[in-house]
Amino acid sequence: MDTPWILILGVSSGFGAAAARAFAAAGYDVAGVHLDRRAGQVLADALAADIRAMGRQALFFNVNAADDERRAETMAALSAALPAGSLRVFLHSLAFGTLKAFVPAATATGNDAKGVTRKQLDMTVDVMGNSLVYWSQDLVAAGLFSDNSRIYAMTSSGSHMAWPGYGPVSAAKAALEAHIRQLAIELAPRGITANSILAGVTPTAALEKIPGAGKLIEKALGRNPNGRLTTPEDVAACLVDLARPGTRWLNGNVLRVDGGEDCSG
Ligand SMILES: NC(=O)c1ccc[n+]([C@@H]2O[C@H](COP(=O)([O-])OP(=O)(O)OC[C@H]3O[C@@H](n4cnc5c(N)ncnc54)[C@H](O)[C@@H]3O)[C@@H](O)[C@H]2O)c1
Repeated sequence: MDTPWILILGVSSGFGAAAARAFAAAGYDVAGVHLDRRAGQVLADALAADIRAMGRQALFFNVNAADDERRAETMAALSAALPAGSLRVFLHSLAFGTLKAFVPAATATGNDAKGVTRKQLDMTVDVMGNSLVYWSQDLVAAGLFSDNSRIYAMTSSGSHMAWPGYGPVSAAKAALEAHIRQLAIELAPRGITANSILAGVTPTAALEKIPGAGKLIEKALGRNPNGRLTTPEDVAACLVDLARPGTRWLNGNVLRVDGGEDCSG
């Protein structure tokens, strides 16, 4: 049997990087897309070297996952490198959006006094939500999925709750969860499951950019029954186990992977 592959959008950091390491350790070859300048590229190179040191393949692309031409080029390279039916897991873990009020407070000044623009809102929903659909379409068309594959998309509690300045990303998360439900029913006949993964508050580069992140961390620490925040490795370990063949009946869910943070009072 061919070695299974995972494709990770957002491979160079946070959940994506932890998943790359965990799946490589579990025997997967890793394809990844990321969008980074020099410092991020150094991290991506180090990650690829770690994966190769584990005896696995690492095939990374530093491109905008939401750009149609770059996606077409990347898909051509993936189709050439991956045997048909070898893609067992597709993880959408992109963090790139505008964090801004829709209607700023009357007291706001400078850049904070400007509400989100159409371009910013469209871009955020496109990158963090709609791109899942276009990649899934192409991966199916290329025949890369197997008959027991998994699609995971990283959502957040912003899909159903409001947080100051998080509105555009909230909208993207609501769209992402709707897309996952739709893919779950459309792809079930092909043996592909689709689930949203709702991680707890996790210290990553993306978290630091959320306005008031300190308050989010404080609240999460107060609620998480484990007395600590979620780590990317906590989530990656669950994803590896959820990718086992016996979980194929688990489809179309929003799975909380937060150590019990969300259900704790
Ligand atoms: N950190 C948290 O507390 C938390 C909690 C729940 C859900 N999430 C979600 O998890 C996902 C990943 O977040 P993270 O915290 O790991 O972020 P991160 O900033 O650590 O990593 C983001 C990754 O996305 C890549 N990326 C961004 N825009 C891209 C683009 N246009 N094309 C290609 N690659 C691009 C970056 O290069 C990087 O690899 C996000 O969807 C985020 O909303 C995060």
